[in-house]
Amino acid sequence: MVDSLKKPDFEEIRSGVKAPAKETILTPRFYTTDFDEMARMDLSPNEAELKAILEEFRVDYNRHHFVRDEQFEQSWDHIDGETRKLFIEFLERSCTAEFSGFLLYKELSRKLKDKNPLLAEGFSLMSRDEARHAGFLNKAMSDFKLSLDLGFLTKSRKYTFFKPKFIFYATYLSEKIGYWRYITIYRHLESHPENCIYPIFRFFENWCQDENRHGDFFDAVMRSQPHLLKDWRARLWCRFFLLSVFATMYLNDIQRSGFYACLGLDAREYDREVIEKTNETAGRVFPVILDVKSPQFYQRLEACIQNNEKLAAIANSSAPKLFQFFQKLPLYLSNVWHLLRLYLMRPIDTASLAGTVR
Ligand SMILES: [Fe+2]
Ligand SMILES: [Fe+2]
Repeated sequence: MVDSLKKPDFEEIRSGVKAPAKETILTPRFYTTDFDEMARMDLSPNEAELKAILEEFRVDYNRHHFVRDEQFEQSWDHIDGETRKLFIEFLERSCTAEFSGFLLYKELSRKLKDKNPLLAEGFSLMSRDEARHAGFLNKAMSDFKLSLDLGFLTKSRKYTFFKPKFIFYATYLSEKIGYWRYITIYRHLESHPENCIYPIFRFFENWCQDENRHGDFFDAVMRSQPHLLKDWRARLWCRFFLLSVFATMYLNDIQRSGFYACLGLDAREYDREVIEKTNETAGRVFPVILDVKSPQFYQRLEACIQNNEKLAAIANSSAPKLFQFFQKLPLYLSNVWHLLRLYLMRPIDTASLAGTVR
C-alpha cells in the first residue's frame, strides 16, 4: 500500500482505464449479508420515523446537484507530479467506497423487495444516491485521463460476509463519518478558497447531506431493533465498530497526509476533528462511545503508525522472506496490543450524557 505511492505510473487495464488498486486490509470493502434474516426484521417499533426519512429520500433534494458545470471545462494538466498521483488516488478510493455502497444497497433492495418493502425502498433510494456519487467521481477521474472500470470491479472484488446487525453498525458509521469528512473539507475550503484546486470539493456541501440522511436511515433502523442498542453485546460491538472505523481512517489518512497538505489541511488535525464529531454523533444512537479525548487514544494510534512505517521498510528491503517475517512479527504483535488496549479503554456511557452530547 505504501509502496504503491512510489510507483512512477498507474497500471492500466486498457488505455485510460485504471487497474484497481492492490487490495489491503485498509481498502474499502465490498459486503454481503444474510438477506433472509434482514427480510424478517420487524420495523414497526420505529415505522413512523422510517417512513418520514423515506419521504425525504423520495423528495430527492440533490436531483439536480451532480451536474458538471463550466468550472470543470479546462485542462487539469497543471495538477502534476506527486499531487496528481495523490489526487487520483483520492478520487479512486472515494469512487470505490461510493460504488461499494451502491452495490450493497442495490443488492439489498433487490433481495428485500417482496419481503420487507420499507427497508427495500430505503436501500433502493440510497443506492440511487451512491450511484450518483460514484459516477460523479468517475467523471472527475476522466479529467485526469483515467476511469475506473466499475463493471470489472463488480465482478472481480471479493465480498466480505457480515451479519445484518454488523451491516447496520458499520454502514451507519461509514455514512456518518463520510458526512463529517466531506463537510470538514468543504468548510475548510470555504474559508481557504485558494486551496480549492479542483471544483469537486464545491459539491461536497449538498453531497454530504445525502450521507447524513443515509446515516439517519440506519439510525432509525437500529432504533426499531432495541436489542441492537441495549444489551451488553451491543455495547461491546459498538465499541468495536467505532474503534475499527476510527483506527482504519487514521492509519490510512496519515499515510496520505500529502493529499491533505495539497488542500492546506493537516491530516492529523483533520482526522482528529472528524473522529471527534463522528464519535459525538454516534452518541445519539449508540449506548457507548469512545473516550477519544484521552491522550492515550492518539498515543497508541501513533505507535501503530510508527510500526506500520517499519513494516513497510521491512517489506521493501531485500532480506529473505522468512527473515522478514521474524522482523515483522513483533511489530504486528505491538499493533494488536495497542488496538486491544484501545478497545479496552473505559468508554463513555451516552445515557449519562443526556442533554449534552445527545
Ligand atoms: Fe455517497
Ligand atoms: Fe451514503
